Amino acid sequence: MGRDVIIACDFSSKQEVLNFLDKFQGKKPFVKIGMELFYAEGPSIVKEIKERGHKIFLDLKLHDIPNTVKKSMSVLSNLDVDITNLHAGGTKRMMEAALEGLTRPDGTRPLLIAVTQLTSTDQESMENDLLIKEPIDKVVMHYAKNASDAGLDGVVCSPLEAQKVHDTCGKEFLTITPGVRFADGDIGDQKRVMTPAEANRIGSDYIVVGRPITAAADPVAAYERCLAEFVG
Ligand code: C5P
Repeated sequence: MGRDVIIACDFSSKQEVLNFLDKFQGKKPFVKIGMELFYAEGPSIVKEIKERGHKIFLDLKLHDIPNTVKKSMSVLSNLDVDITNLHAGGTKRMMEAALEGLTRPDGTRPLLIAVTQLTSTDQESMENDLLIKEPIDKVVMHYAKNASDAGLDGVVCSPLEAQKVHDTCGKEFLTITPGVRFADGDIGDQKRVMTPAEANRIGSDYIVVGRPITAAADPVAAYERCLAEFVG
C-alpha cells in the first residue's frame, strides 16, 4: 500500500455512513471506522463496507492485558480489515501479543499501528495525571520506538512529528497523521494542523481526514482535492 487519504467516517449509524459512501460513485476511498460506529453497528458494518470494495482502517485503540489483546486481535483479523491499532502504553509485551493474535494461519495480517500519546494529552495532564515527567515529544518517540521494536508497522502521530518518527524508527515505519486541513478551510477543534500538501512534504504515509471531507458541501470534490494535494 502506498500513500493514501483515509476518510474518517465518524458517523453514528449505518445509514449515515452508507449514504455518505454512496456519493462516491465508482470510487472506493480508504475509510476509517472508529469506536462510535463500531459500537453502534457491530462487526457487520465492517463487513458491509469491505464488501463494497473499500479498504478499512479499524480504529479501536486496544489496550488491555496481553492475552486479552491477542485474542481480540485474532477476532479482528477475521474481519479482513487493512489496518488496525492499539495503545503503545500497553507495553511492548502487549504489542507483541497483539501481532501474534493478528497474524492469520497463512502468515498474512492487517497492518498494526500504535497510538503513542493521544493528542488530547498535553504535558501538564501527562505529568499530573499519568505521573510521566519527561518532555512529551520524548515520550512520543520512545513509544514509537517501542512499537517499532515490537514489530509493529507504524504509529498514528501529528504531521509535525512524522519526520522525527521516520528519523527515529526508519523510513519504512509508517506514519498515519490526522489533523489535516485545507489552507482555506475551518480548523475546528484541531490545534496543530497541516495541509495535505505539507503533510506530503514532511513524509506522512497516510493522512486521516474527517470533517474537511465529511462536512464539505461536495464531499467527493473535497476528497479529490485532498488526494491531488497529498498524492499528486
Ligand atoms: O474531522 P477531523 O479531520 O478532525 O478528524 C480526524 C480524525 O482523526 C478523527 O476520527 C479523530 O478521532 C482522529 N484522530 C485525531 N487525532 C489523533 C488521533 C486520531 O484527530 N491524535
